[in-house]
Amino acid sequence: MNIPNLTRRNLLLGGASLAATFALAACTGGPNLLTATSGPVTAAEKARRRGGRTTRIQLTAGRTDIDLAGRTASTWAYNGQVPGPTLNATVGDTIRARLTNRLPKDTTVHWHGIALRNDMDGVPPITQQPIAPGESFDYEFTADAPGTYWFHPHVGPQLDRGLQGPLIIEDPREPLGYDHDWVLVLDDWLDGVTATPDEVLVELKKGMNGMGGMMGGGHDGGTLTRDGNLLRGTSSSLLGGDSGDVYYPYYLINGRPAGDPATFTAKPGQRVRLRIINAGGDTAFRFSVGGHRLTVTHTDGYPVNPVEGDSILLGMGERYDAIITVADGAFPIIAEAVGKADRGFAVLRSNQGSPTPGTDGSAVPGTSPITAAVLSAAASDTLRQRSIDRRIDIALTGGMMKYDWGINGAAFDMSHPLDGAYSVREGERVQLTIANQTMMWHPFHVHGHTFQLGTGGPRKDTAIVLPGQSLRVLFDADNPGLWMTHCHNIYHAESGMMAVLGYEKS
Ligand code: C2O
Ligand code: CU
Repeated sequence: MNIPNLTRRNLLLGGASLAATFALAACTGGPNLLTATSGPVTAAEKARRRGGRTTRIQLTAGRTDIDLAGRTASTWAYNGQVPGPTLNATVGDTIRARLTNRLPKDTTVHWHGIALRNDMDGVPPITQQPIAPGESFDYEFTADAPGTYWFHPHVGPQLDRGLQGPLIIEDPREPLGYDHDWVLVLDDWLDGVTATPDEVLVELKKGMNGMGGMMGGGHDGGTLTRDGNLLRGTSSSLLGGDSGDVYYPYYLINGRPAGDPATFTAKPGQRVRLRIINAGGDTAFRFSVGGHRLTVTHTDGYPVNPVEGDSILLGMGERYDAIITVADGAFPIIAEAVGKADRGFAVLRSNQGSPTPGTDGSAVPGTSPITAAVLSAAASDTLRQRSIDRRIDIALTGGMMKYDWGINGAAFDMSHPLDGAYSVREGERVQLTIANQTMMWHPFHVHGHTFQLGTGGPRKDTAIVLPGQSLRVLFDADNPGLWMTHCHNIYHAESGMMAVLGYEKS
């Protein structure tokens, strides 16, 4: 669907045909879309209820200090910890989470990947009002599908502070057997060290104009220094070029830097389910465990036909679950910050030996990482064949130079959220084609739905789109409301690479 371009020039030039254009724009933009509190939203939530238990959760967002191997960084976090507490519930449960805001700014909680009721999706001002400092908000929704999810604010670049945590929905009939279930949150970190994410966003938005001299011969591995090393251009063939816009002094696994790593212990021969979450702001990670093969069993919560490999590539917002069988010894757990010449590090230990952190890259396997492209959905979660009712084309546009990331050439504006909105009708099979017209990769995320890559690919809610390439996905429009769809590079999203996908009133 193409949204007419209503520039002032078009308006001035228009005649009768313009009136028609305007009417179409008004109809895609506003009154015909359901709101977050409309009847169909409530009806969809009722259909999800299955009389499970109620899981009560208290989250307090506030200032806290964290220790990065001896360096104190003050940040914002949930319940005083980074990452926030792991929330566990069982499928069918009602999750009742009270968020108390002790931050100096408005905030919300978005439950990433959960097909939940739209008015609990945490996107102000579209699905709720922002939660002001000192106030609380009660989130309540049904946990509809098992899997590995996470939560973070949907206000500015707050998620690039410490505000993020895992949400694990257990399956009472879990078919996988394992001895341990470990969550590993991968993160890039700068808050309270070089700058705050808000300051980074301001710098990035100034663009690269006037910086020609500093760019040297391009981005390839070079260093773009500006304002004390805030930004650094980087590159990786895995991501088709530029890997990120932001320089981070630390990469963390479960909130801990390489100098003070998290340690996981198990017995040799035990099977461990790893739930790996990329909670970064601007960094893709290549995850591996030295001396171990990884068997990927799920991505973004949904089961895939198992695939074995040495490493996994995760864009921001993506999750992968993998099984390992623990060997005898001590091994590095590595989250290579792709294209950024640094890594997160933790330790897997089944005896008293000590692993070598490996500073030269030798611990990262030479084989290609597992990506969504090599996975297929488990039969139980493959969308059934049917004809496509609606085709939507989304072009990802803009670039690093002007920092004008957008969709279809326009920057999303939260004060006019329905400008350029896409629409579907409840019950439709929708084909979404995401064309990346930029020179950089983007992890593209759709709220409230889990799409399928291609026809038999994995079910996901966040997927990497490489520069110059298109990704085609299918989903069923079965969760009415107003849903954000955006790049999960938080700086791209906040500078405009976002749009609303809304359900039409029937
Ligand atoms: Cu992780 Cu708009 O979300
Ligand atoms: Cu992006």
